[in-house]
Amino acid sequence: MKDYLKLIENNKKWAKEAVKVDPEYFSRLEHIQNPEYLWIGCSDSRVPADKITGTNPGEIFVHRNIANMVVHTDINLLSVLEYAVVHLKVKHIIVCGHYGCGGVKAAMTNHNFGIINKWVRNIKDVYRLHFQEFEGLTDEKARTNKLIELNVIEQVNNLAKTSIVQKAWKAEQRPYLHGWVYDLHDGVINPIFEMGHEDHLDPLYVFDDL
Ligand code: CO
Repeated sequence: MKDYLKLIENNKKWAKEAVKVDPEYFSRLEHIQNPEYLWIGCSDSRVPADKITGTNPGEIFVHRNIANMVVHTDINLLSVLEYAVVHLKVKHIIVCGHYGCGGVKAAMTNHNFGIINKWVRNIKDVYRLHFQEFEGLTDEKARTNKLIELNVIEQVNNLAKTSIVQKAWKAEQRPYLHGWVYDLHDGVINPIFEMGHEDHLDPLYVFDDL
């Protein structure tokens, strides 16, 4: 059997099992999507948003890219964010990075990755912004872990800088922003940063005409 066909087989089994356990499963989900969470995670196949958070279909709106970035010119991210905040009215946005992230590791090298360089450069910028924090850190793994954590914090700040989030903060005091790091070693999520509508954001980034 061709490898990919097992995915179709698995799907058939899953669909059958879902209805067996809960006959209304699909009819209930078919007409309504009402998730409370937006997840911005890494594309890494080892960090599946729903599995590691124990959430079911319908509970979590997901955007994934290399190294869980919030890039202001990324129309894909912005569309997902706008839809999640304005239409789905999510209460929480989670940026979840992970230790051992290949995207962050790539940013710490001088290798030429072709078109991926343009994406990875955003991570190099995080390093440049916080280079003092790396002083005295010589262990390669410790340096990478540090950048992984700083990157998550920076991406949460990037969310706060968007007019989408600021508008919702002003009108509805949501969403709450969370920065998490998932550990591939033990499967545990470590919350490292959070931010709400009352928290400080450099005034230069705050829009006054929302
Ligand atoms: Co990654």
